[in-house]
Amino acid sequence: MRVLIILTFVIEALAFRHAEQQVLSGGGSSPKRYSIQTPPLDTDWTYEVGTNPWPQHPRPKLVRPEWQNLNGLWTYANAKDHKALKHPPFNKTLSHEVLVPFCLESGLSGIQADKALYSWYRTTFTVPKNWTGDRVLLNFQAVDYEATVFVNGQNVSFHRGGFTAFTVDVTKHLNNHHNELIVFVFDPTDSDGYVIPVGKQALDPSHIRYRACSGIWQTVWIESVPKNYIEELSINGDAGGQLNLTVVASNGKNDSRVDIAGSDRTVATYGGFAGSPISFNVQSPKTWSTDVPDLYDVTVSMDEDTIRTYTGFRTVSRAVVHGVQRISLNGEVIFPFGTLDQGYWPDGLYTPPTYDAMVFDIITLKRLGYNMLRKHVKVESPLYYAAADELGILIMQDIPSLATQRWPDKKQHKEFVRQLEEIVTQFRSYTSIFSWVIYNEGWGQVEPDHAEYALTRLVRTLDPTRLINSVSGWFDHGAGDFSDNHHYTNPQCGTPWHESNTAAFDPSRIGFQGEFGGTGHNVSGKHLWKVQKAVDTVNETYELWETLDQWNFRGHFLLSELLEQVQLYSCAGAVWTETTDVEGEINGMMTYDRRLLRPDVRKWRGDIQALYDASAYRSKGSKQAVPQDVHFEL
Ligand SMILES: *[C@@H]1O[C@H](CO)[C@@H](O)[C@H](O)[C@H]1NC(C)=O
Ligand SMILES: *[C@@H]1O[C@H](CO)[C@@H](O)[C@H](O)[C@H]1NC(C)=O
Ligand SMILES: *[C@@H]1O[C@H](CO)[C@@H](O)[C@H](O)[C@H]1NC(C)=O
Ligand SMILES: *[C@@H]1O[C@H](CO)[C@@H](O)[C@H](O)[C@H]1NC(C)=O
Ligand SMILES: *[C@@H]1O[C@H](CO)[C@@H](O)[C@H](O)[C@H]1NC(C)=O
Ligand SMILES: *[C@@H]1O[C@H](CO)[C@@H](O)[C@H](O)[C@H]1NC(C)=O
Ligand SMILES: *[C@@H]1O[C@H](CO)[C@@H](O)[C@H](O)[C@H]1NC(C)=O
Repeated sequence: MRVLIILTFVIEALAFRHAEQQVLSGGGSSPKRYSIQTPPLDTDWTYEVGTNPWPQHPRPKLVRPEWQNLNGLWTYANAKDHKALKHPPFNKTLSHEVLVPFCLESGLSGIQADKALYSWYRTTFTVPKNWTGDRVLLNFQAVDYEATVFVNGQNVSFHRGGFTAFTVDVTKHLNNHHNELIVFVFDPTDSDGYVIPVGKQALDPSHIRYRACSGIWQTVWIESVPKNYIEELSINGDAGGQLNLTVVASNGKNDSRVDIAGSDRTVATYGGFAGSPISFNVQSPKTWSTDVPDLYDVTVSMDEDTIRTYTGFRTVSRAVVHGVQRISLNGEVIFPFGTLDQGYWPDGLYTPPTYDAMVFDIITLKRLGYNMLRKHVKVESPLYYAAADELGILIMQDIPSLATQRWPDKKQHKEFVRQLEEIVTQFRSYTSIFSWVIYNEGWGQVEPDHAEYALTRLVRTLDPTRLINSVSGWFDHGAGDFSDNHHYTNPQCGTPWHESNTAAFDPSRIGFQGEFGGTGHNVSGKHLWKVQKAVDTVNETYELWETLDQWNFRGHFLLSELLEQVQLYSCAGAVWTETTDVEGEINGMMTYDRRLLRPDVRKWRGDIQALYDASAYRSKGSKQAVPQDVHFEL
């Protein structure tokens, strides 16, 4: 017994020394210098990133003038396990430079780690001398998956969840010159025993599952705020001009007065109080739409705090038109047609290399005629949603799914729900988001309990103004606004047959094709993700076409099938798989490097316009749709 204890001790001590060696850089040695690790595929933006990435203010819905970006070169070291947390590397240089905010498995991070489960990050910062606020907030826009934050030797925060932002008031821990910031990250992804929201990430990626992304992957920054400041804000306007706001005061009191004004040419001003909903009318605002995405700047003041935000005015609703459930925007029937959008980059994985790269995807989709995208089991940075608001594209937003083929246990489900709540709360002010998706194809769905009913009620409470796609594909039991079928490659949208769903089409809800298409084209090795396992799985693509002509012909055929379903049945919106190739998937509008666009733009636009026209025709025209009466310009 005694011997055993000693042995255990020795092993632990050895293990600890091993981990420590990674961290320490004693005797004046310096960390391994940063250089981009050549990713398996690069983009035109990879080598434009430099060492001051993502300089934009990262929170467009709540902007104060006094802020400072902490992105850039930090140091990093791998850690062995949770025990490392007992000995944070205070005042120690870590072994490698790392470029924040690119996750550790990405080439742009300079690390390109394989399986980064436990990690240390370290940087130092100075608070600008001329800041006028009473307090300093430290903000993390996203760290995957768990972060423990130390400032000047003190544990100041713990956050769990890879997709949401968190803020720490660090005022009392700061000094005037040199502040040390250390972050410990634990990200198990889908390792044994862990069932957490990961979306498409996998430690052992293959075909539809992609390389994991761990650590800091969005901007880290500090800002100056007064004693009582606006801690949370939600803002939404509708087509009739009603503007709703809620403002949460940091002092927790609800008697703080809130004043609202439009900037520039002020269209309205209003006063209210923190803590309770504020609602007032703006006279005939310009509505937001995908064709004309008008937005309004808004200034909100509370006590000594003044922030900038913005909103669009638009109303999303369901309407039965000539017996068919339709989606309408500002009272007009629309046919949301988008791509399945994974939001992955070969060089930055979860993080686009630059802002220009990020908006390139949205601009390309618009150019092809899409008015929508389905952001698939990933949540983007706030800047992405602000860009979608500005450029005018609708977003159907998935909640990132749990990594499980089975049903999650109670604890795992509870954590999924907690994170769902955080996501909806943080992103419910973006005009472009018109619908939430709770479950995708049964992933992590507590199927026998029909858990989606309770979750639909929860999301409805958090956000009563958007549609809810409770179950996109497979295990539909009647919850939510959509009767959503997935069927590859041919669509079955609002049709009496739903081959791949457990339920037939339900005409009391919106007939929707949450996924179809997925036709592939193995363009050339040059555009492939050069990881053998990925190359070996591209043959799992539903269909592979030899030439772009064939691929385009097939696309035209599938879109024509969808068109018939719009003309004859109850198809009210659809999602084509997908925006870009990703790793082992080669079915994108674009290759993974965004260098090759597959569609014949003129034909593709024509086919998409025909869908919009058919939907509009049936919504405006006679009760009985007669396909031959419909004329399209191709
Ligand atoms: C504070 O100083 C920085 C540069 O040191 C400057 O860019 C900024 O405008 C100053 N802010 C104020 C409020 O004076
Ligand atoms: C790090 O070093 C500074 C300067 O010597 C010192 O003030 C500080 O207490 C040290 N931090 C910790 C956590 O030991
Ligand atoms: C750090 O503080 C958080 C509370 O903010 C706590 O949950 C966590 O266990 C602490 N971590 C360590 C290593 O002390
Ligand atoms: C504003 O709030 C009212 C009352 O809760 C609600 O009926 C309306 O849908 C809301 N509109 C928007 C755009 O949030
Ligand atoms: C402030 O208002 C919120 C929401 O209405 C409420 O939950 C909270 O209890 C109120 N706080 C105080 C201190 O009155
Ligand atoms: C796809 O292309 C790559 C590179 O040319 C090749 O190695 C691979 O065998 C091809 N796979 C299929 C299924 O065509
Ligand atoms: C794809 O190719 C691999 C070998 O590279 C083979 O093992 C697998 O069965 C193929 N899958 C399909 C669906 O053809």
